Amino acid sequence: MSLADTRHVATSVPNDLESLWLPFTANRAFKKAPRLIARARNMHYFTTDGRAVLDGAAGLWCCNAGHNRDPIVEAIRRQAAELDYAPAFQFCHPRAFELANRITALAPGDLDHVFFCNSGSEAVDSALKIALAYHNVRGHGSRFRLIGRERGYHGVGFGGISVGGIVNNRKFFGSLLAGVDHLSHTYNREQQAFTKAGPPGARISPTSSTASSGCRTRPPSRPSSSSRWRVRPACCRRPEVTSSGCARSATSTASC
Ligand SMILES: Cc1ncc(COP(=O)(O)O)c(C=O)c1O
Repeated sequence: MSLADTRHVATSVPNDLESLWLPFTANRAFKKAPRLIARARNMHYFTTDGRAVLDGAAGLWCCNAGHNRDPIVEAIRRQAAELDYAPAFQFCHPRAFELANRITALAPGDLDHVFFCNSGSEAVDSALKIALAYHNVRGHGSRFRLIGRERGYHGVGFGGISVGGIVNNRKFFGSLLAGVDHLSHTYNREQQAFTKAGPPGARISPTSSTASSGCRTRPPSRPSSSSRWRVRPACCRRPEVTSSGCARSATSTASC
């Protein structure tokens, strides 16, 4: 369908916008001048008044294969006609195993197990729980510390906002997860280039040495005789370090 074919498509604007809360949105301002998307095709959204909007962000990074594409529409239609939902506790559907096998075949190294979730926030909270449970069942229950990065975004679940480094996302929600520290961020306005190998673009900002919990994350410029600077880097080199945080030993906990 061409752009011209879809311009006439428009749904009516609801007469009451009150009930629905939108996330990360100034709701009052939005409701005064709502931006409503009625439909989409390939790389365009179409607003309720028929304007085409180029979807440069692929949804919120989740429609990377394009919108409303025939093969995808057909696959969704076929699946809904066969089975719309299977309970996930004590039951499963064969295709879930097929998909997990395909993902592990694509994934590098020994990333060979899959746990499905419905959103990034849920995935992050699940990953944190899996990391903690992993140490617990191995008899290392004292390794419960989680380390994120200042400015990091890990969704909006309690675990994600605790380990995430966006203060605005957590300031209204009390004490959150205990035992979280943050490393300094990698944002550098002068050197905003991305490099695969690290310097000069992506690197830890040398100016930020204090984590948001008040825990130092970089050694002082002069060598210290205190054991804490020897303990922390060692913990972060351990193989258990995960991308959203690492569970650290009780020894390093005491060093904060
Ligand atoms: C690293 C990371 N964690 C969590 C999320 C949250 O995902 P969702 O919006 O699906 O909850 C995102 C979303 O961009 C993300 O990039």
